[in-house]
Amino acid sequence: MRRISLQDLNDTMILAKPIYQGTRLILERDITHLTRYIKQLENIGIYSLYVKDSPSEDISIPDAVSEETRQRCMSAVSAIFDKLKTQGNLDISQLDGVIEAILDDIFSEKDIICSLHHIASIDDDTMVHCINTTIYCILIGKRRGLSTEDLTTLAKGAILHDIGKVDLNETILLKAASLTQEEYSHIKEHSSLGYAFLKNNKGLSDEAKLIALQHHERLDGSGYPKGLKGDEIHLFARITAVADMFDALTTARCYRKSMSNHKAYDILTDDALKGKLDRKLVSCLFDHVAIYPNGIIVYLSDGTHGIVKHQNPGQPFRPIVRIIDDTNGINNVTLFDLDLTEHPELTIKA
Ligand SMILES: [Fe+2]
Repeated sequence: MRRISLQDLNDTMILAKPIYQGTRLILERDITHLTRYIKQLENIGIYSLYVKDSPSEDISIPDAVSEETRQRCMSAVSAIFDKLKTQGNLDISQLDGVIEAILDDIFSEKDIICSLHHIASIDDDTMVHCINTTIYCILIGKRRGLSTEDLTTLAKGAILHDIGKVDLNETILLKAASLTQEEYSHIKEHSSLGYAFLKNNKGLSDEAKLIALQHHERLDGSGYPKGLKGDEIHLFARITAVADMFDALTTARCYRKSMSNHKAYDILTDDALKGKLDRKLVSCLFDHVAIYPNGIIVYLSDGTHGIVKHQNPGQPFRPIVRIIDDTNGINNVTLFDLDLTEHPELTIKA
């Protein structure tokens, strides 16, 4: 399996992961002749797919949670956000069940190195971001040695971390151009608004509620809303800050394209070095999240290219790559696997 842009699709490829719009299945796994769906997919903001083709047939892309768990989460989170928006009523009664399902999935894979590049329509941005951030938080928290009880609290707070966005002006929230100072100040209100929604809820602990309030605070005091520093920011909010930033960078938004995991790794590492993000927590994230995920195309320093086939644990910059040698023409392609741990002279260039 590999991920491919719509413009590179051809009709010999087979859809490897189903496509949903909200909770509605629009394309089933194993569908062929994919080029006939390109227009329909572009219309809902989907520009790439996971496919199986002969060079990627035996390449698997590990998921932290199953498709079933992800869809259960989508329904639960949509219901919570919709009810709050339309009735002003915060009902989180469904949360415990879905958090348990996410934790069960994550704990069933002991040393997973994954990538959460879930293909979703543009309408599902907020829900997918809440779910991805929660999964990243659990992966970081698990690596950090948190108890199951703490991971459950962390996950409940993380899934609701952006709930304050329900009260923001949608025109500003979805604006494709850069924001004015005034508009940015409006967006920044979502952390205090979110905390106000959660404050009196009896189903959430105080620690979970603080995640909504503090996830944009930074260790050096440069964050918002209060400019807290270091340990003044709760550990769970420091974990969510790392998870939230990584997912925001690696997911396409209405105002910019998505960034590669590698580029996002550079930015998070830089923020950790500048004392904004917790360095240990950034490192915990990249113990479980691939810097060069399986199924992406990489270009090597010797001019060759290939598909990332497999991760080498503890060696995030040196995966095994399925080299595609097409120097003798596209009808005469040869494939071979190259383990970058055995080739120190080679590096990934792009
Ligand atoms: Fe946020």
